Amino acid sequence: MKITLEIQRFNPKKDKEPYFEKFDVEVEKTFRILDAFVFIYRNMDGSLGFRKSCAHGICGSDAVRINGMEKLACKTLVQDVAEADGDIVRVEPLRHLEIQKDLMVDQTTFLDKFKTVKPYFLPREVVKEKEYYQSPAQRKEFDAATKCINCGACYSACPILDKNQNFLGPAALVHAARFVFDSRESGLENRIDVLDHADGVWSCENHFECTRVCPRGIPITKLINLTKRKIKKYREERGETSQDPGKKG
Ligand code: SF4
Ligand code: FES
Repeated sequence: MKITLEIQRFNPKKDKEPYFEKFDVEVEKTFRILDAFVFIYRNMDGSLGFRKSCAHGICGSDAVRINGMEKLACKTLVQDVAEADGDIVRVEPLRHLEIQKDLMVDQTTFLDKFKTVKPYFLPREVVKEKEYYQSPAQRKEFDAATKCINCGACYSACPILDKNQNFLGPAALVHAARFVFDSRESGLENRIDVLDHADGVWSCENHFECTRVCPRGIPITKLINLTKRKIKKYREERGETSQDPGKKG
């Protein structure tokens, strides 16, 4: 079948504004959108900027917006987004991050926010001999949060970031949850200030857009809500008040 890819182009070195360029490509229904990018790059326009690495949904580098929804180009088949000959498929870069070129965005801000939640193991206690023990049930508590591939799809889809660019964003909160709910971890203790904050978990208004687009099926909004609950309990146990705006109002 023949489809038209309408791709947002922008080269900050020469363009004042992003614009759309159309590419007519001959594809099979079972081709991936990433295959179409590669075809365009090799045969039509070698200046097209896009990222890819694994091409199998593992590295998270090719997240873009396809027909307005965040997806991995390597996991999206033509038949998922086009039905018939002549269909137009619109492709744009992720939102909330600076465009480097065409479909490539600068992830610096996104990754800097990860660092603030200390996304690494801070043990609850030092076990001098043998390994840390953890039951299958305890492991299940944070299993979903380990599946993140840092693709940025949730960060782009989040409507809160439209109005508050300081919001940590869904992915950083998923990484926080990975440690907060790990029985071997110090959990909230080392992360409470950044999480119990107006720009931390309390910015989330349960729009569920992040959960809707996550290519790894992570229940992001649920994890954020569980973290909110854990923060309230943590504060209550210490006779403190959380930064929950609902509480203060
Ligand atoms: S939580 Fe999901 S959508 Fe967000 S960065 Fe991780 S894998 Fe991507
Ligand atoms: S290229 Fe690695 S996830 Fe798509």
